Amino acid sequence: MGKYIIAGNWKMNKLPSETYDFVKSVAEATKDASCEVVCCTPFVCLPEAVRAAKGTHVKIGAENLHFEDKGAFTGEVSADMLLDLGVQYVIIGHSERREYFAETDCTVNKKTKKALEKGLIPIVCVGESLEQREQGVTMTLITNQIKAAFEGIDAAGAKKVVIAYEPIWAIGTGKTATAEQAEEVCAAIRKVLAELYCDKCAGEITIQYGGSMNAGNAAELLSKGNIDGGLIGGASLKTADFAAIVAAAK
Ligand code: 13P
Repeated sequence: MGKYIIAGNWKMNKLPSETYDFVKSVAEATKDASCEVVCCTPFVCLPEAVRAAKGTHVKIGAENLHFEDKGAFTGEVSADMLLDLGVQYVIIGHSERREYFAETDCTVNKKTKKALEKGLIPIVCVGESLEQREQGVTMTLITNQIKAAFEGIDAAGAKKVVIAYEPIWAIGTGKTATAEQAEEVCAAIRKVLAELYCDKCAGEITIQYGGSMNAGNAAELLSKGNIDGGLIGGASLKTADFAAIVAAAK
């Protein structure tokens, strides 16, 4: 299966002035990690996060990027700007961006291609709402999101993409998907990838689960065959909680 990656998504939390000490504490608390450890931070925290992560195993990611190289896009941040800082990962198409900032499958695809072209590792988020789950359209929706995100990306590029399956109803609600529910969708995602590319290629792609993952439920979720890591919101804001999830990723 894919390389194990535990990534924190700070969302709009923590100040630049808190960032250096916090990332240092994460590096210290996870120094025996047997998986990749990533902190994805707000844009303004990135310089301090990169400075703190330097010389440690911790990698730094952004929470968004723009798909154009440069130009008149007020308020946006390009891949080159992130790379210039030393950022290595970028979250793309988080459900909060799809819901509140009008991101679509099309912009997700453009951003994913741009990240790959520039050498950033995209963490592409997919997931269904509670309503969609209750209507029984989860698998169709996720299949469509995956196919759209990977449109025009070859196998060599696809292998570098990280997918985060995040059921919207489990985000920030304390209501985690059961390990069986999460595994069912992650297995379906891998099947779609095998159809788009090949079995071997699909097997190399990291598929994370995200949604109220915490120190208590991480081990069970991560024990599943198709769950290769986690994208962690709330629990990534406390060093001990995040380190416990990293420790569960063996
Ligand atoms: P929570 O872990 O706070 O539910 O957030 C998950 C998430 O959205 C990570 O991207």
